[in-house]
Amino acid sequence: MSTSPPSETAVKKSRKKVTTHTFRLKKSRREPITMLTAYDYATASAIDTAEIDSILVGDSLGMVVLGYENTLPVTMDDMLHHCKAVARGAQYPLLVGDMPFLSYQVSIEEAVRNAGRFLQEAGMDAVKLEGGRERLEAVQAIVAAGIPVMGHLGLTPQSVHQFGGFRAQGKTASAAARLVEDAVRLEEAGAFSLVLEAVPGQLASLISERLEIPTIGIGAGVGCDGQVLVTHDLLGLFERFTPSFVKQYANLHAAMVDAFTAYREDVAQGAFPAEEHTISMSDDEWSALLQSLNGR
Ligand code: KIV
Repeated sequence: MSTSPPSETAVKKSRKKVTTHTFRLKKSRREPITMLTAYDYATASAIDTAEIDSILVGDSLGMVVLGYENTLPVTMDDMLHHCKAVARGAQYPLLVGDMPFLSYQVSIEEAVRNAGRFLQEAGMDAVKLEGGRERLEAVQAIVAAGIPVMGHLGLTPQSVHQFGGFRAQGKTASAAARLVEDAVRLEEAGAFSLVLEAVPGQLASLISERLEIPTIGIGAGVGCDGQVLVTHDLLGLFERFTPSFVKQYANLHAAMVDAFTAYREDVAQGAFPAEEHTISMSDDEWSALLQSLNGR
């Protein structure tokens, strides 16, 4: 019997593509769902290899990749460009494309058309959009077009100006009751899952118990049916700020600064490129070249 671990390819072959059905199944089995954000091929591939259930191509890309103050400037073109790269890098996770600001709020027709582009042009399996009762019609229409929709309640970053900053939501009894009702109505409208962001843990647990669809928490405690984090926060790649609910599993910003500094010093001292990084020519070809140049 072989004792060597299975190769990455063998592991990948034994896996099954995660679908919205898998999400429901995992909730019914009380198996936590894992989700991370990605915006490029290499990260998507690493997340896939780590057997994370789902990848969200979040509009957080506006902040952590494109350097904007918030997510509002992100466009459909930005989202589709990054979704395509992620789809090329990930085979098994359920791929969710985040609908950017004004891509689903202006009209129901535009909402359905834009949602469709995530599946038709960018290889996504589902879309996510922010908001509760005011988005039910859009959710129903997108679902009716055969496109799975993930809802998003709590701190919905596209409403940052309405909230007066990135603040936790649902902390009063009346605000919490409104979120419970919105969650139920999103489920009734056909959403297959729901992100709960920056809401009290007790409230997220209550919503998760009331709903049949799985909740995915970010800053919402352990009572959700799954968890999502912005990958740049988890990796310590985004140094501008880190929300208090993030657990940092690495400090890649510091690792990058160290590597770039070492490279700069190597080049300055002539230590890079070394012989092994240099392409060589055979002695015969080299002397032929010198002869031909000298003979001119
Ligand atoms: O854009 C994003 O990354 C998100 C997550 C924070 C849920 O919406």
